[in-house]
Amino acid sequence: MKKVLVTGGAGYIGSTLVQLLLDKGYFVRVLDNLSFGGEAIVDLFNNPNFEFIKGDIRDVEIQRRAIQGMDAVAHLAGIVGDPACAIDKDLTNAVNLEASYDTYRLSEEMGVKRFVFASTCSTYGKMADPEAFLTETGDLSPVSLYAETKVQFEQFLVEQPRTNVCKPVRLRFSTVYGLSRRPRFDLTVNEFTKELALKRELVIFGEQFWRPYCHVLDLARSIVFAIEAEESKVAWDVFNVGSTNENYTKQMLVNEIVKVIPDAVIKYVKRDEDPRDYRVNCDKIEKVLGFKIQMTVPDGIKQIKQSVEEGFFNNPDDSKYKNI
Ligand SMILES: NC(=O)c1ccc[n+]([C@@H]2O[C@H](COP(=O)([O-])OP(=O)(O)OC[C@H]3O[C@@H](n4cnc5c(N)ncnc54)[C@H](O)[C@@H]3O)[C@@H](O)[C@H]2O)c1
Repeated sequence: MKKVLVTGGAGYIGSTLVQLLLDKGYFVRVLDNLSFGGEAIVDLFNNPNFEFIKGDIRDVEIQRRAIQGMDAVAHLAGIVGDPACAIDKDLTNAVNLEASYDTYRLSEEMGVKRFVFASTCSTYGKMADPEAFLTETGDLSPVSLYAETKVQFEQFLVEQPRTNVCKPVRLRFSTVYGLSRRPRFDLTVNEFTKELALKRELVIFGEQFWRPYCHVLDLARSIVFAIEAEESKVAWDVFNVGSTNENYTKQMLVNEIVKVIPDAVIKYVKRDEDPRDYRVNCDKIEKVLGFKIQMTVPDGIKQIKQSVEEGFFNNPDDSKYKNI
């Protein structure tokens, strides 16, 4: 694998991935419609191994141009997150499903060998057994349009003929946090830390509910692992991405933040139900690919706290740091 197309490469995870790939000597092409601008990757124009195509993945001809000559495709472009997907159902289906089907079909047609899909652990929905940690064989019960499109696209990949040259790998990402070239402050760890670093009162709804978390750098690393792995280890397979030790309740996240912001003011609002209450087992990716996280939630909290407190962002509340 020498040449990689990253769709959505100007985004939060994509921009981190592009840098990692360039550092490893890959030729990297990005296809992105720059929904949130391109500042995250503008300096990469100085790298001769970087190429950018501005376009929408709903445009088949643009996709054809972008996929031409690539060895691997990391498919990250999409409408991301429950609130963003809920705004326009038709657009969400057009981008996250129809256009994404084209991304895979064209990849197969044009001889791409590896197709890595950014799925999500939120495809699992609520845990049936509150004590259990969900593995890749767990039932999928999406509770939002966003997660539903991820489940459907995964299913589409699974149904492709095994004779295809383009081998798909599905990565189910934990909820992401941490700093990236495109910072996001609408993600739980980042938002909680930002609000408290700005000395605001934080309101927590349902502090007892679980989620798995993973740093943006580690998610990007997992994509590189999926691209570089032997075909027999990843083809047609699915991996939870993160660490089994990095499942937290919101209360546990707050406890970590309070260690570095002791004067934090927090108000709790009781909630008895959260349809996205789950813990995830990420042992398979470590066992099969040797992938281990390098960052933990406390590391992410420290970097968000420092960057916000020391004024790296003129306006951390700017809408460009959110997906809606
Ligand atoms: N952030 C998370 O917690 C998380 C968790 C699991 C999975 N994922 C998945 O990882 C991928 C990347 O997520 P992210 O957090 O970097 O999101 P992001 O919104 O920062 O990045 C998405 C990128 O896709 C681009 N894009 C959107 N629609 C497009 C279109 N029609 N044509 C071309 N480009 C388009 C956007 O401009 C943006 O740069 C997504 O597929 C997302 O579903 C994210």
